[in-house]
Parts: sequence; C-alpha cells; structure tokens
Amino acid sequence: MVFAGKLSSTWTAYFAALSTLSGLIAPAVAVKEHDFKKCDQAGFCKRNRAFADNVVAAGSSWETPYKILPETTSFKDGQFQATVLKTINAQGETVKLPLTISFLESGTARVTMDEEKRQKKEIELRNDSKARKERYNEAENLVIVGGLTLDKDAQLANEDKTEATVKYGPSSNFEAHIKYAPFAIDFKRDGVSQIKFNDRGFLNMEHWRPKIDKPEPEKKEGEENQEEKKEEPTGEDESTWWDETFGGNTDTKPRGPESVALDITFVGFDHIYGIPSHAGPLALKQTRGGDGNYVEPYRLYNADVFEYILDSPMTLYGAIPLMQAHRKDSHVGVFWLNAAETWVDVTKAKDATNPLTLGIGAKTNTQTHWISESGLLDAFVFLGPTAQDITHKFAELTGTTAMPQEASIAYHQCRWNYISDDDVKDVDRKMDRYKIPYDVIWLDLEYTDDRKYFTWAGDMFKDPKSMGEKLDEHGRKLVVLIDPHIKNVDNYHVSSELKSKELAVKDKTGGIFEGWCWPGSSHWIDAFNPKAIDWWKTLFKYTAFKGTAENTFIWNDMNEPSVFNGPETTMPKDNLHHGGWEHRDVHNVNGMTFHNATYQALLSRKSGELRRPFVLTRSFFAGSQRYGAMWTGDNQAAWDHLGASIPMILSQGISGFPFSGADVGGFFGNPDKELLTRWYQAGAFYPFFRAHAHIDSRRREPYLVGEPYLPIVTAAIRLRYSLLPAWYTAFHQAYVDNTPIVKPMFYTHPSEEAGFGIDDQLFLGDTGLLFKPVVEQGKESVDIFIPDDEVYYNYFTYDVAPTHKGKKTTLAAPLDTIPLLMRGGHIFPRRDRPRRSSALQRFDDYTLVVAVPRQRGGGRAEGTLYVDDGDSFDFEKGQYIHRRFVLLTGDDSAAGQRLVSTEAEARPDAGKVKEGKWLKQMRDVHVDKVIVVGAPASWAGRKEVTVESEGKTWTLGMEYVPAEGGRAAYATVRGVGARIGADWTIAFA
Ligand SMILES: *[C@@H]1O[C@H](CO)[C@@H](O)[C@H](O)[C@H]1NC(C)=O
Ligand SMILES: *[C@@H]1O[C@H](CO)[C@@H](O)[C@H](O)[C@H]1NC(C)=O
Repeated sequence: MVFAGKLSSTWTAYFAALSTLSGLIAPAVAVKEHDFKKCDQAGFCKRNRAFADNVVAAGSSWETPYKILPETTSFKDGQFQATVLKTINAQGETVKLPLTISFLESGTARVTMDEEKRQKKEIELRNDSKARKERYNEAENLVIVGGLTLDKDAQLANEDKTEATVKYGPSSNFEAHIKYAPFAIDFKRDGVSQIKFNDRGFLNMEHWRPKIDKPEPEKKEGEENQEEKKEEPTGEDESTWWDETFGGNTDTKPRGPESVALDITFVGFDHIYGIPSHAGPLALKQTRGGDGNYVEPYRLYNADVFEYILDSPMTLYGAIPLMQAHRKDSHVGVFWLNAAETWVDVTKAKDATNPLTLGIGAKTNTQTHWISESGLLDAFVFLGPTAQDITHKFAELTGTTAMPQEASIAYHQCRWNYISDDDVKDVDRKMDRYKIPYDVIWLDLEYTDDRKYFTWAGDMFKDPKSMGEKLDEHGRKLVVLIDPHIKNVDNYHVSSELKSKELAVKDKTGGIFEGWCWPGSSHWIDAFNPKAIDWWKTLFKYTAFKGTAENTFIWNDMNEPSVFNGPETTMPKDNLHHGGWEHRDVHNVNGMTFHNATYQALLSRKSGELRRPFVLTRSFFAGSQRYGAMWTGDNQAAWDHLGASIPMILSQGISGFPFSGADVGGFFGNPDKELLTRWYQAGAFYPFFRAHAHIDSRRREPYLVGEPYLPIVTAAIRLRYSLLPAWYTAFHQAYVDNTPIVKPMFYTHPSEEAGFGIDDQLFLGDTGLLFKPVVEQGKESVDIFIPDDEVYYNYFTYDVAPTHKGKKTTLAAPLDTIPLLMRGGHIFPRRDRPRRSSALQRFDDYTLVVAVPRQRGGGRAEGTLYVDDGDSFDFEKGQYIHRRFVLLTGDDSAAGQRLVSTEAEARPDAGKVKEGKWLKQMRDVHVDKVIVVGAPASWAGRKEVTVESEGKTWTLGMEYVPAEGGRAAYATVRGVGARIGADWTIAFA
C-alpha cells in the first residue's frame, strides 16, 4: 500500500499540512518518474559513468590506476591477499586498498577490497558527524549464513612478479588468473574464461580525501580551473562530493565521495538474468541506449515506487544483487554484496577476436558495470556450470526459503480495507456460501486505532478475538499490517518505549529521526539494533498484542522504508543506524532487518510455542527468503501489469527469493471482469497467491464477479487447492536448497536456446506442469513454447499437444480454460475433494497423476510428495512423509508396468522416529485415485491391477479409456487404499 490516491477528509487535511512542509509531496495517481533519480542525478553514478566513458574514449592509451604491489602478495589456506595501490594524481601519489580473494569449499570465489585509510579510521568526518569512519563492512553479518569455509585444497599454481594463478573448485577445474598491473582477474572454468573483473578498466574506489575549501571560481574561466583538472587526471566532477541536493532534500556526506565500481564481463554469454526487482523482461536488457534498449542503468535502491512503470530499469521495493549469465549448457553468476544504492549498466559486445567463442550464440560478451555509493567491494563469483549450481551455492551463502505455514501457500483474500470485524465475518461467510476456498483474510492499515500499530480501531473492531475464533472454525488465518514507522504521539506505549529505550533510527545529528508516514509524524524502529529486536518481540506476545491469537500473522509494508517527506520517499541517507552506520550504507538491507525482527517476534509470542511464522514483506534483500514471502508491490489493474507479473516472479525465483506473488486483480484501479478472471487464473500459479485492492477501488471479492465469471474464478482457486500437495512439495524443495518454486525455460532446459528469452510461461516445481497465462484482453488462445521432445498432454482433456521442440504450439484458451500442459515423464500429487480451506484438506486422501513419457520401454515417469503438519517445526525431528513415485514404462514385461512408492530420501531416522500426533493421523490417509495419462495401448484388455503394500496384496478394477482423436489413452484406478506414508506397488500387468 502506498502514499497515493484519493484520501479521506482527515487525510486531505494532513496532506494540506504536509505540502506546506515540502512542495514535493502531493497525492498522486501515477508514479512520477521525476520523483526518482536518474543516474546523472545521483552524483556517484554520474561520476562513474563518466569515468567509464573516459576510459572508453581513451582507448588503448588508458591504463587503470590500480596495481597489485607484487611484494605484498601472499597465499595461505585458500586465501590470496595483497595490497592494491591506486595512483591518485599525476605526481604518482597512491592509496592502499587491501585485497582478499577467498576460495571457498563450495567452489565459489570471493573478492573483497577495502580502503586502508578508512579501515584504520585515519580520516576526518566533516560537520562533527557521528557516523562511522570505515566503509560499511557488516553486510555479511546480516546476509551470509554459511558457506564461507575456505577451500584448503585451492593451490597457487603459478606466481611471478606480474601475475598469479590459483586453481580451485570441486575438481580443481576453476582458475583465478590474477593480473597485477593493471589489476584484473580472469575467472576460468576448464581453461576457458567465464567472468572477468576490471577487464575494461572501470574499477573505481573513490578514496578518502579531505575537503579543500577552494575559493569560489573566478568569473572568467581561468588558470585555476586548468590546474584543478591537472590534479585530477580523469577530470572528476567534484560538485557532489560533499553534499548533494535532489528534490529539495540535501544529503550531507561527512565522508565525502566513497563509491565503489567495477566492470564485470561475462565472456561469451548473451543472456543475463537477475538483480530483481525490476518491472521488465527476465533476460536483462542493455542500458546504454540503442534500439529497444534502456538508457538508464538498472537501479537497486529500495523505494516506495507506487504504480510503477513497466519495462523499465527503475528501482522498485527490493534488491537482490545477484546476476547470472547463461549460454547453451553453461551458467555462471556474480553476487555483489553491497547494501548501498547500486546501479548496473549492461552492454553487449560482439567478440570476434575471442578464440573461446565456439558454437552458436557464444560470440557475444555481456559487459556489466556495477556502481555502488559506499561500502566495500565484495563480490562472489560462481562458475557453475549449471543454473542449479548457482541456486545451491547462493543458498549456502544466504540461506534457503523458510518452510511456510501451509495456509500461506493457499489463497489469500485481502483489500485495503476490511473495515470491521463484521465485514471480515461477512466475507468469510460469503466465501463459504459460494463454495470458494480461501485460507487467509487480511487487515490493512485501517484496523488500527488511528494508525497506531498493536492497537485496534475499537469502534470497528470491537471483538478481534471472536473474529479470530470464527476464522479458526475452518482453519483460517488472519494477517494484520505492522509497519516500521511508529506514530509520534503521547500516550502510546509503543512510541514512548521506542523513545525511552533509544531504539529508533537517528538523524545526522544523533537526535531521533522524525519523518512522515501513514500516522503523520513518526519515528522508525532501528532493526539493525539487536536490542530493538528484543523489544519488538515483547510487542507481539499474545498478552501484549491483545486480540491476536495463534492464527494471526503479520504483513510488513513500507519497510524500504517509505518516508513520505523524505528524499525519493525514503530516509535521508545521512541518518544514523545502530553502530553509527549511515543509512546510505545499509539502505537496501533495511527492509530485511525489519522483516527479520518481525519473524523473530512471531517465533516468541508465547514461551514453548514452536510454530512457523508467516510474514509478508515488501522490501527485501538477499537473505529475505529466510523470513517469509514478498509481493511485487503496488501494481495496477491493467492487462500489461498482469503480463509483467510473470517475469518478475520468475526473476525472484532464480534470484533466491522464490516465495513471491503479485496482487491479483491489480492494486490500483478497477479490473473489468475478464481481467479479474484471467488474473485469478494466473495468480493460481504464483507461489504467493493473494488478491488485493486499493481503498478507492470497488469491492471485488471473487463471489462478486457474477456470471459467467464466478464458476471460472472458483475453478482457478480450486485448481490451486487441488494442487496444494504439489505446491507444498515444491516449497519443501525450496526449503532444502532454494530451488525456484516456478521455473523459467532456461532453468529447466539449459540447452534449448530458443527458450532463453521466454519469460511468460513457467514450470511448477518438478511436476512437469507447464503453464502459460492469458494476459491479453479478448485472447482465446496462447502460443506456448515447447522446450523439448517430450510429449505434452493437456491437463484437463488429456489431448496430446501437437508439439515441436523449440517451437510454439497453440492452445485454445477461451475464458474458462487455463492453458496448462503435463509434460510426459512426471508424476504429481493432488487432493481432489473440494474443501473450504487447506486445513480441512489436511487428512484427505491423495490422487496421483502419472504422465507417461514419450519414450516407451526404458522411459520412466517420476515425482515426489512431501508433507508435514504444515505448521510446527516437528518436521525437523523427522515428523514428515516424503515419497518418491516411479512408473517404469518397460516393454510388456511385468517389471516394466509398475507404479512404485518408496522413501524419497535416505532416512537414517526411519523406524526410530516416534510418530507424533500428526504422523499417527496420517496413518489413515491413503492413495485414493491413480490416473495414468498416456497409458500404453497394451493395457487395453486389462481390467484389474494388483496392489501390494505392508505385506498384503489386493486387486482392484482399472478403467482403461483408449486414445481417441487427439486425446491420449488413460487408465484410472480408484480406491487404491495403500497408505500414503507406506511403501507400495501397483502392478498394471
Ligand atoms: C558542514 O561544514 C561546512 C564547513 O566546513 C559548512 O559550509 C556546511 O554548511 C556544513 N554543512 C552542514 C550540513 O552542516
Ligand atoms: C535477525 O535477528 C537475529 C536475532 O536478533 C539476529 O541475530 C540476526 O542478525 C538478524 N538478522 C537480520 C538479517 O537482521
């Protein structure tokens, strides 16, 4: 939710007051691009782009001023250390930049460069600033949770006065070739260059210097200016070194210029992905002009960008500075660990001279230029060779997806606002009356008493406790909004404690920072402070936040943070956080610290209670996946926003934060019924599936949509519910190793080049379900891209899709049809009995759908099911069921005609785990139906199957339906009766 739109009368008064404070701020209905900086309005970005341009203009006469001092190098225990000297003027003066290259056991390399003077605090801050003197060096404490063990087997293969080579990686097939003068690193795999640092000479670490107050320049441009230019060989633009004004806000810079920038070249890679969040295509575009390209760099500076524009490199609410490059059968990546404002330029260059450009599509280098305002140079290099390798290695560093509350992966009903407890109960009743399942209803801002979090608007929410109990009758949950801004008002315990305990963010003078947000004058909790987290925990206790219960969960909005009267609607960069760090240093990780604080608080609402939190966040950074879900912020009820949601969610998935979704229906505006219907069909395939709407939009709960849309919307939501076992299994995989929950084509089919740019369709987990939403008005078909030679069956009709590898096939998709294919070779679980909520499905029997592969005789179909109690942490103690299902489609021999269920993983605990209550109840849960789509013609005459499980054998009827027209043959077995948790075999012959 944002600062925008029509406002109630109190709000109008408030804004009238506000706008006298700042001419900038006025209610708006569309994002004002000019409220956000362009590169040339951010001094450090402008300087670094100019620096790069100068380097390019200088051509071969350019020499980077960065050199490793050979006598300073050392190599020990997987770490290369050296001092890089930066020459800072024509007189040859230098500054020292300590460099560490760490080779990690995982095969990841990490390059860290600091600045000695700042590191040793041998600098002066201007204006009696209370900020820290060092470059920000604590991002790793917040972001990295493991994977830093050094690779003791890394070897210094070769070193002389000019270069060193380190061999490392899983089979010592990785190589870092470190050139001393000029300083550059070439990362190779199997002897072939993959990623180059400072290949183009854009490395730039702005060293500390004292401010020299020069006399005002003479009216005539004279010799003085000439001299200035001599001093700075690159003709640096000093105008924004010490302060900078944008939109009426002045940022003071007590540490002066301190940006860090580097060029990173992906050698022979034409496709790059990642660095969410941006509203653009999954495959990143070039950013320095040209046909169809952007002219601005991709920006990462978390901000409240309401009604964002599409196909743009503009910043959005969250930032994950992980970039990946892909070419046929090769995948590499770089993680730029920096929490300050960051811009990334992307260009592509044909590389005719490169002897390594073998094969089609490998003749391009993608060149990137990373520019951060402050902090260390800290970059992790992943050499693949697969996308899965990067997913797993990045997860080792930043953590995996939290195992979700089961309800949180079902359907969420939200709007700004459900206005009273009666309103909530009424929606609850109507969803039931119309037989539309849902799990969670949400309360936006207006549930609070006058925007004071942890309180209730007593006149409208008279009895929150009974409201929660009513929802609990069907296992449903309530989510309430809690934001980081705390109303600055007397007689509000949260505000007085925040102040008296000194847990708020400070302004540049060290006083408490005051700004404007929803409640008017506000202060912000500083969640970088561990004491603030401890305090935050006390506020969520059931005894403290009265009216909440076990089924209440939390939504953290506005945590970029959004500050209505701040520069670019956020905090002044010279604000101070715990430890004396400037907001500038930590901005992009700010949202994550708050999300974390809330996550920690939900873990400690009641002593002894061990339940999984659910916290939705708007702002995020690498690592946020550990704390909950994100959504793509304040989109619009427009077809193009529906379309944009798919690449955005795919990008989240490959970038380590897969629990993501977009507001179904669009936040701003009123979707027409067709758009709303199509959005439900698409949303049913978002990992996070929530409908949401702005306060000024008309009510649009799904039961209001009317005929003929109502049954179509209901069917979409029910499809989500029947596939919940498959979704939950995919979430479990994300918990294990952060595999994306929905996957783009390049990820599943790394050799199929025609798929590298496809970002409007997805695979769900390992189910083989291939989905492409309709995102255009009036469209009655989709052209779906087929990445391989497998057979694809229509999910609903079992028709065999006419497919050609690497080509699109057209599927009919009238409004009541969801374009969904089943790829041969997969098995996925469902629960087919329609219920009101996921909780009520918990002990329902399963259906297994088998999609027989094209290749008969030796081909196999395979799939998994993971299930646990969906709520506690007992799964960590073995209280779960994890099955693997395999259908071998041999010839006609009996061995090849079986569907077998076995443990999906080696379980050393098997037999030792004492069954808890949930596992005991699961003893009564069985496989009900098995549907084999594409059943072999040889089954035609058969009427029976034999089931064998737990020492018993029984026979059941099988219904075989032969192929007809375009429809595949299929076989159905009902009432299988084998326990879902047990080993079993169904013999079809
Ligand atoms: C900082 O100090 C300089 C003088 O050293 C002064 O000109 C400037 O106005 C001061 N800035 C702030 C924000 O106090
Ligand atoms: C989350 O909170 C825990 C507990 O206070 C703390 O140890 C950890 O550093 C925090 N992480 C982040 C990202 O804020």
